Amino acid sequence: MKRAVYPGSFDPVTYGHLDIIKRASEIFDVLIVSVLNNKDKTPLFSVEERVKILREATKDMPNVEVDSFSGLLINYAAQKDLHIAVRGLRAITDFEYELQLAQMNRKLSEGRLDTMFLTTSLEYAYLSSSSVKEIAYFGGDIGQCVPDFVADLIYKKFNTNQS
Ligand code: PNS
Repeated sequence: MKRAVYPGSFDPVTYGHLDIIKRASEIFDVLIVSVLNNKDKTPLFSVEERVKILREATKDMPNVEVDSFSGLLINYAAQKDLHIAVRGLRAITDFEYELQLAQMNRKLSEGRLDTMFLTTSLEYAYLSSSSVKEIAYFGGDIGQCVPDFVADLIYKKFNTNQS
């Protein structure tokens, strides 16, 4: 049984993430989407909220599970007996950071955790959680970036409405 983890902040999940989740779920028997509980960051959504949002957004993908983790990804992966991390690559600007992360994880895990990259579909290449938050903060339209129920939750957080 081939299992993989897709780790990330997912604050909030975008259509770009969902595209990677869908495609990875067609490659692996089980895909665990895991939300990083990063105490150094002040997220828009709590880990619990992000997990709930991801569960709702992936409810039609039966082999996708949603979880959360704290600390190092290699320790979480070892605990769960996972050996492949999936990450999406949008543009060359992602590459340097992702390469470093992948190589660091491989080295730290002594080869037990490898990374597989999927290139983001072109229609989502421009998307990022931070730009979605900024647009929503100023009341712009994020309807093409995130599912409707996620957009509603984001506007509610900022107390803004689509202009
Ligand atoms: O969605 P993001 O914020 O780009 O995801 C980054 C993530 C969660 C994959 C990465 O920050 C991570 O794995 N953090 C956990 C701590 C860790 O293992 N760091 C790697 C050692 S440098």
